Amino acid sequence: MTETNARAPATAPRIVTRNVTKLYDTVAGPMVAVDDFSLDVADGEFVCIVGPSGCGKSTYLRMLAGLDTHSSGTIHIRPGSDPKKPLNSVVFQEYAVFPWKTVIENVAFGLQMRGVGKAERLEVAQYWLERVGLRKFAGYYPHQISGGMKQRVSIIRALANDPEVLLMDEPLGALDAQTRIVLQDELLRIWEETRKTVVYITHSLDEAILLGDRVILMTAHPGRLLATFHIGIERPRTVETLNTAAFAELRGAIWDQLGREVTRAMEMQS
Ligand SMILES: Nc1ncnc2c1ncn2[C@@H]1O[C@H](COP(=O)(O)OP(=O)(O)OP(=O)(O)O)[C@@H](O)[C@H]1O
Ligand SMILES: [Mg+2]
Repeated sequence: MTETNARAPATAPRIVTRNVTKLYDTVAGPMVAVDDFSLDVADGEFVCIVGPSGCGKSTYLRMLAGLDTHSSGTIHIRPGSDPKKPLNSVVFQEYAVFPWKTVIENVAFGLQMRGVGKAERLEVAQYWLERVGLRKFAGYYPHQISGGMKQRVSIIRALANDPEVLLMDEPLGALDAQTRIVLQDELLRIWEETRKTVVYITHSLDEAILLGDRVILMTAHPGRLLATFHIGIERPRTVETLNTAAFAELRGAIWDQLGREVTRAMEMQS
């Protein structure tokens, strides 16, 4: 079930991360946030990353997105055949929507930035709004819709952009438990159709196993690769998958390693 080599078996990975280290300058001197981290992600693969708080997950995602630099090593996202397609789109935990734009304008924003004409971008945005049951809210402003709806808007804005790689940092982390379950189901359905390459960070081990083809565990600070688990549970999956014996078995095996690491992280902080 586990493997020491974090490379995906595909011939030409979409994402290549080799021996990446990130140092931050702090008042106490240089601090290693991510240490010698290697991970390849295959085309169309859904990879989830889990690790104790402060282990460097967001730092890694920001480096992947090109929003932060790495200190050493290599990070590469292989471009697709369509040069107009963006390499990546990011969804963060906070509802990163523009309050002064309507729902549909928010969804169409990435396309607008890429110079896609108004009729086409509204058509694409409309498609995605319908896809997640937000058609009626197209003309609303973000303050007029719920947190769950805002996060749907963030997610479909990234999807409307049609990036090679979707990068998600705790996208459902701010939501209540029920809304989270509904959006997990929605994400599963959308992913079955689009088969995007996804790197998905979550604190929820259940969410990682439910969504991912692989679950990557990172060590407590500084973040290194701890273990990789292949999730062989057949698709399509739904939230009912959480109640299966196969799921419970995987959760137990992964928690065995993750739990120890979380305890270690807490001991380091105390
Ligand atoms: N801009 C920065 N300058 C200095 N240190 C930083 C900076 N950003 C993050 N760090 C530190 O780097 C480490 C990794 O932070 P990061 O946010 O990547 O962790 P994380 O795994 O995403 O945590 P969480 O699960 O709580 O979101 C932490 O010790 C954090 O304090
Ligand atoms: Mg984080």
